[in-house]
Amino acid sequence: MSLKQPSQLPAWKALAEHFSKIRDQHLRNLFAEDPERGKRFTVEAEGIYYDYSKNRLTAETMRLLLALAEDSGVRERTEAMFKGEKINVTENRAVLHVALRAPRDAEIIIDGENVVPAVHAVLDKMSDFTNRITSGEWKGFTGKPIRNVVNIGIGGSDLGPVMAYEALRHYANREITCRFVSNVDGTDFVEATRDLDPAETLFIISSKTFTTIETMTNARSARDWALKTLQDDKAVAKHFVAVSTNAAEVSKFGIDTANMFEFWDWVGGRYSFDSAIGLSLMIAIGPDNFRQMLAGFHSMDEHFRTTPLERNLPVLLALIGIWYNNFFDAQTVAILPYDHYLGRFPAYLQQLDMESNGKHVDLDGNQVNYQTGPIIWGQPGTNGQHAYYQLIHQGTKLIPADFIGFNQTLNPVGRHHDLLMANFFAQTEALAFGKTEEEVKADGVAEDQAAHRTFEGNRPTNTLLADRLTPEMLGKLVALYEHKVFVQGTIWKVNSFDQWGVELGKVLANRIIPELESPQAQELSHDSSTNTLIERYRQRRNKQ
Ligand code: F6P
Repeated sequence: MSLKQPSQLPAWKALAEHFSKIRDQHLRNLFAEDPERGKRFTVEAEGIYYDYSKNRLTAETMRLLLALAEDSGVRERTEAMFKGEKINVTENRAVLHVALRAPRDAEIIIDGENVVPAVHAVLDKMSDFTNRITSGEWKGFTGKPIRNVVNIGIGGSDLGPVMAYEALRHYANREITCRFVSNVDGTDFVEATRDLDPAETLFIISSKTFTTIETMTNARSARDWALKTLQDDKAVAKHFVAVSTNAAEVSKFGIDTANMFEFWDWVGGRYSFDSAIGLSLMIAIGPDNFRQMLAGFHSMDEHFRTTPLERNLPVLLALIGIWYNNFFDAQTVAILPYDHYLGRFPAYLQQLDMESNGKHVDLDGNQVNYQTGPIIWGQPGTNGQHAYYQLIHQGTKLIPADFIGFNQTLNPVGRHHDLLMANFFAQTEALAFGKTEEEVKADGVAEDQAAHRTFEGNRPTNTLLADRLTPEMLGKLVALYEHKVFVQGTIWKVNSFDQWGVELGKVLANRIIPELESPQAQELSHDSSTNTLIERYRQRRNKQ
């Protein structure tokens, strides 16, 4: 298959021409010209009110962007994904995270087999296990019930579960303490377990491959930590369960495969927390909430699959992202949730987006001549306002931002929520409209100070406003971004489902490990910088 570069598509060329005409248009003028703009450029679907009016675009921009989506085959590729075609071409795999939240009676066929019954069998096994843990029926080795759950995993086997656990903490069973260990830095494990009783602790070893060095190192340290107190290898069966696609490695580690929760190679790591990788989350929030979350995912999947492009939330979010990334040359996107529970959402989206679309070749392996995935970053509001918003407002870089907020708080305390939301609305207003030098001077600011207090404005934002952060809404939000990433990857013609870019570092670390651990100082044959750094570490690591 030979691919047309996006820049060769008529819609792309038309967008480039259109861009040269409207690049300097100010949002102030766009709003002044159309009093209905703040209502016109909005879509409401799936309980999410999406206002994209504070973006530097016109109806013509949207028409051309939608044509780009059509010309890029977004519809066809979406169908191919939902049908289980092997669109992950570099690994020859289907991409079917949508099957993880398909209803029980759905049918999704891969290699001649309907995978939905297997998905529900695992969900049922997870529910049963969760009930046994939370009811106290499942006992630790010494007969005590489990009070602590520690998920050990990294990347997709950590970021999703921890993000969703934090996001849905309001719904969590407070009798159970949940911790998440990911880093190979021993500090992570030590601090996560220092106040826990091994007799009451369950470790969930979450790893798609069950070979990831960080996870396996933490898993072995967890086993040593537990057995130091429990003193019997048989305790492993009561205190360790696994979530993996690799039964052979799970059993090699010593976990009974009866205590393994399966998932499949057609689930990418960063698309997996709605699979068994979410076991820690299910234990925390309970099977019913977990299923409501899956229902939220599924209804966004259906919205994405069936809604016309011009009212399709993931498609619109993706296209507007392309507009800034490829025409305005914006390098980053800020994710700014105004809900403290969504504190880890930007970090989760970093992996989702950057591991998926951080690619420099197209599906044919040709070097691309256009920008692909943006840098994703952010923190919850209002904290970020007192840190980096200065640069977004008055710096020299264009930083499109997604503002995510809720009409109702889960924790009503005095005036807090109104104050939070006042800031939420104020920021997008300030970013769009700014404050002119004349306005600043009219406030009585001295001439020599005016420039410093001027805000150019014209800084674009998306606003996503929903009623309440529920399990269902979290599922919808995650699926929204999953499909946004998919649409962008489709337009950029990259494989959003592999991650070869993380391999080289792993290979080189494996080469260096014996150079650090071997009792005989091994000769080093790296570059002069790496050699000197390793030498210095070897000489000084044991000095007090
Ligand atoms: O480092 C890349 C990666 O493969 C991610 O894609 C994945 O989520 C993570 O490592 C963890 O992998 P595993 O679940 O196999 O331990």
